[in-house]
Amino acid sequence: MKIAMVGSGYVGLVSGACFADFGHDVVCIDKDASKIERLHAGIMPIYEPGLAELVDSNVRAGRLSFSTDLASSIKDAQAIFIAVGTPSRRGDGHADLSYVYAVAQEIAENLSNPAVIVTKSTVPVGTGDEVERIIRDGAPGLQFAVVSNPEFLREGAAIGDFKRPDRIVVGAEGEWERGVMTEVYRPLFLNKAPLLFTGRRSSELIKYAANAFLATKITFINEMADLCEKVGADVQDVARGIGLDNRIGSKFLHAGPGYGGSCFPKDTLALLKTAEDYASPVRIVEAVVRVNDSRKRAMGRKVIEAIAEAGGGEPRGKKIALLGLTFKPNTDDMRDAPSIAIVQALLDVGAELVAYDPEGMEAAAPLMPEVTMVKSAYEAVTGADAVVLVTEWDAFRGIDLERVGQLVNSRVLVDLRNVYDPAEVRAAGWHYSSVGRK
Ligand code: UGA
Repeated sequence: MKIAMVGSGYVGLVSGACFADFGHDVVCIDKDASKIERLHAGIMPIYEPGLAELVDSNVRAGRLSFSTDLASSIKDAQAIFIAVGTPSRRGDGHADLSYVYAVAQEIAENLSNPAVIVTKSTVPVGTGDEVERIIRDGAPGLQFAVVSNPEFLREGAAIGDFKRPDRIVVGAEGEWERGVMTEVYRPLFLNKAPLLFTGRRSSELIKYAANAFLATKITFINEMADLCEKVGADVQDVARGIGLDNRIGSKFLHAGPGYGGSCFPKDTLALLKTAEDYASPVRIVEAVVRVNDSRKRAMGRKVIEAIAEAGGGEPRGKKIALLGLTFKPNTDDMRDAPSIAIVQALLDVGAELVAYDPEGMEAAAPLMPEVTMVKSAYEAVTGADAVVLVTEWDAFRGIDLERVGQLVNSRVLVDLRNVYDPAEVRAAGWHYSSVGRK
C-alpha cells in the first residue's frame, strides 16, 4: 500500500518508518527542506532509540523516502496521514490547528485519486469535520474520507509502542475507509493488536481522555507521595499496594517531580479549553494541571530544605549538581521539563548550578544559560554541595556512588525519581532525600 506521511517530526517519522518496516511504500513529507536534506543523509532530527537504524534499513530496501513536495508525493497514495504539530496556541492554550488546516488545504489542491486522509496529529474534537469541509470545498467530486487515528507513542519507547500497541484506535464513519485502515494496520492486526473502530469524534476525544487520565494518575500518586512524607509512609509501597488491584493497575504510579513533555501539559490544557467551549467542565483535570504546575517549583524547595537539614545552611553560593535535565530519559526533549522550574527556583535563591544530561544539553542550554553544562556526571558532582537526580537515565542508576561521594564537597543527595535504595545510600554516609519515602 502506498502511504504519504505529511509531517516528518516525532510522530510522522516514527510512524512512517514503522509502516515502511511493515512492507508499505512510504514517503515522509516536510516543508522544512533542511530536515529533509538531513534525513536523506541519514541524520535524524530527534533522538529516539533505534530510529536511525530503522530509517536506514527501510530507505535501503526502497520502501521509505523523503520529500518536500506534497503535490507529487500524494499521487497514488491510498492513505495520506497528517502528522504535523498542534502546539498550544500562544495566549489561550487552545491547540493551534493552523498547520493541520494548511495541510488539508494543500491536499485539497493537489489530490486527484481516491484517498483516505488520516489525522494522526492530536486534534480537538470536531477537527476531522473541518478537515473534511476544507477538502470537500477545495476538491468537489473527489472520492475521499477523513478518519481519526490518534497515536499513543511514548518518546524514548516510540518504536516499541508502535509495533506492539495495546490498541489501535480508528475513528471512521464509513465502510470504505474502515477497509483501507484495516489494510494499513494489517501487519499489527495479525499480531493481535486490537483495532478499535469508533466514530470520528470519539476517537479524537479518546486521545485527550487517555493523556488526561494518565496525567491524573501521576498527579494522584505525587500528592500521595507528599502525604507519605508527612505521615511516615512509603509511596513505593502505597503505589504497589494499590497498583496490584487490576482495576487500578500498576503503571504510571511512579511518584516524581511532576509530569512534563510535549504531550501531557499541552493536551490537558487543550482538553480544558474544549470543556470550556462546550460548557462541560472537567474539574479533575483542572486540578491536575494546577497541582502539577506548582509541584515542579516545589521540587526546588525540596533541594533547599535538604541542604539546610544536612547542616549546609542557606543555598546562596552553594554549588548544586543536576543529573539529568530532559523531561524523561531516552529523549533529548526539554519541553515542559520539570528541570526548568527547578533550575529557576534554585537560581532565585542564589545557588550555582552545574548540570549533565546524556542527550539533552544542547536543547537545555538556551533555556537555562546560567547553568554550566559539563561532559559527565562525575565532572558535574565535583565540589558539589548537593547532588540532585532530576531525570532517571540508566547511566545514573548505575553510577558509582562511592566515587561520587569522594568528588563532592558535601554528601547531600536529592533523588527526585526514587532511583536509589535509601538504606544503602544512607549507610554510605549520604544525607539522602527522595520523593514520598521516609
Ligand atoms: C505520553 C503518553 O504516555 C503517550 O501514550 C502519548 O502518545 C504521548 O504522551 C503523546 O500524546 O504523544 P510521553 O509524553 O512521551 O508520552 O511520555 P510518558 O512516558 O508518558 O511520560 C510523561 C511524563 O510523565 C514524564 O515527565 C514522566 O517522567 C512522567 N511520569 C510518567 C511520571 O512522573 N510517573 C510515571 O509513573 C510515568
